Parts: sequence; C-alpha cells; structure tokens
Amino acid sequence: MAEKYLEGAACHSRVRGMLGFTGTYKGRRVSVQGTGMGIPSISIYAHELLADYGARRLIRIGTCGAMQEGIRLGDVLLAQAAGTDSAVNRLRFGGADFAPAASFELLHRAYQLAQDRRIAVRVGTVLTSDTFYSDDPDSWKLWARYGVLAAEMESAALYTVAAGFGAQALAILTASDSLVTGTTATTEERQQGYTAMMELALETAIS
Ligand code: HPA
Repeated sequence: MAEKYLEGAACHSRVRGMLGFTGTYKGRRVSVQGTGMGIPSISIYAHELLADYGARRLIRIGTCGAMQEGIRLGDVLLAQAAGTDSAVNRLRFGGADFAPAASFELLHRAYQLAQDRRIAVRVGTVLTSDTFYSDDPDSWKLWARYGVLAAEMESAALYTVAAGFGAQALAILTASDSLVTGTTATTEERQQGYTAMMELALETAIS
C-alpha cells in the first residue's frame, strides 16, 4: 500500500518485524502500519499508534469471510459494529459486554465516498473471531441468522482500543472467501485485487 499509494514513504517502524510507513497521499500525511492477525496482535499496534505515535484516526483494511448469500468475493464491507467470541472485553470490563462500534463520522464519510466513487459497499455487523480454523464448521450460522455480514479477526479490538483513547476507528473489509459457498480468492487476487478498499481507506483518512 505504501509502495503503490504513498509519496516519499519512509519506514517509521520495524518493531517486532511489523512494518509501518509514513508518506503523503494527495499531499496529506498518512501512515500505513501492519498489525498482524487477531485481537492480541492488533490491540498492541493500535495501542502503540495511539499512545506513542499520537495517531487519532485508525482505519483497518483487511479481508473477511462472507456469511450472507448475496456477498461475493471482492465485495467491500464497512463494519458498523463488531460482535466477538473473544473473552478479551469481558476481562477488560469486569465480566460485562462492551459494544465495539465504528466511528460514525468515519463510517459516514467512507459510505459517502463509496457512493461518489460508485463502489458498492455493504454496511453492517461483523464477527471478530478468535479462531480461523474452527472445530465446528457450522458455528458461523447462528451469527449469520442474526444478520452478521462476515467473519474477521480484528475489528472488535480496534474499535475497543480506539474508544479507550477517545479516538476514531473504522474497518473497511473485502470478502476474500465465503463461508456460505466455500469459495476462496486466489493469492494473486488477494495481493492485487483490493484496490477499491485501499483507495476508499486513503480517501476517508484524508477527507
Ligand atoms: N474468518 C476469519 N477471518 C477471516 C476469514 C474468515 O473466514 N476470511 C478472512 N479473514
């Protein structure tokens, strides 16, 4: 993303082998930062971006597994809210449930930009799961029945950590596979096909 979109990108971090670059996009300073996979990993990078680098607005881009029939591989989703099967927020909130939600401002902007650019986006709830390879192949179906759009592994943590800092966060996702049909995008499609999501994230970041 830094190579393709940022001008004058310089590596600002190699901590734990996770690369971060800062450059400009259409004249505005933007950083892109790897976060690793799963709640513990993104929680560390989100916390450090907010606590140590002074970031105030975090936009996750990444892939997800579609849980609804109408969602095709390559479709872009905006995660309005994120449920989770993780216990991490119950630990944080003394056994109670926090409601991880996107920044309305970022969500609204991303949605408007998508409409302007004629990118068809779906807005709704996602499931932030602690498992990628589940022992129960049908476990997603209950979430699907409640209208959850897709499974991924980071957004609930991103929204929670950002909320703790009074910062804004949004997850923009592309369906890389479908739990409904069992289809999966190729490695090539994953590496090259997700420009709509990246451009929407960058435009939202600077708007
Ligand atoms: N589950 C969890 N995370 C994912 C998936 C999935 O099916 N696809 C892409 N990231």
